[in-house]
Amino acid sequence: MIAILSDLHANLEATEAVFRTCEALGVKSYWCLGDVIGYGPDPVAVARYAKERFESSLMGNHEEALVTGRHRFNPHAAQAIDWTRRMLRAGGGGLMEWFAERKAFALKGNVLMVHGSIYDPVHDYVDEPENPIEANQMIETLNRDFSGFDLCFAGHNHTPFLATTVGVMIPHDGHRSFRLPKGHKAYICVGSVGQPRDRDVRASFATLDGEQLTFHRVPYDLRATQAKIRTHGLNEFLAERLAEGI
Ligand SMILES: [Fe+2]
Repeated sequence: MIAILSDLHANLEATEAVFRTCEALGVKSYWCLGDVIGYGPDPVAVARYAKERFESSLMGNHEEALVTGRHRFNPHAAQAIDWTRRMLRAGGGGLMEWFAERKAFALKGNVLMVHGSIYDPVHDYVDEPENPIEANQMIETLNRDFSGFDLCFAGHNHTPFLATTVGVMIPHDGHRSFRLPKGHKAYICVGSVGQPRDRDVRASFATLDGEQLTFHRVPYDLRATQAKIRTHGLNEFLAERLAEGI
């Protein structure tokens, strides 16, 4: 069983809760789709987990901003990435160098992994189709542009959903496991470990076990994370949004 995690965003409490769940599930390998850091108050501790445990870890837009200093962030994201850079440089252990070496995508067998989308693996968002026109556009993308791979795992939008050629599925506690037979084309958005934005405050990730895809939600002590955001003087909105899942 493989666990696919994205957008940990330096949230140590959420990261540790997800790893505990994965260990109980018998996960053998961890893939990360990027944005290990940014926004959150524990960049050094979460980066150490990432460097030690992830078999594969991609360049997210926050890693790119960290390494290059170039971004189009809003003021609170920009403040957080500058603070993160200072923390990682002080933390040592080759963490900044490790982030600089991240690749924009990875291909494993019939599975493509990106942070953003197949069109721009670092910055683009896979939008959840909200009407029949967008649903048809998604089906067209899957049929026309998923060439050389069948499944694409994506992060960045912080919202878990599954888009296949037969429709879009929003996982929930009553239905969160799907079979993806060989040759089936699908975008799999795994949601965010450290800053979910689908109004469910629990950490989100996915596992793949052969053809079986499962979305998971894990509660964690978000009040502890909020307290650290405030202690470090990061923007109050970054604390508030964790309690609202936005
Ligand atoms: Fe992100």
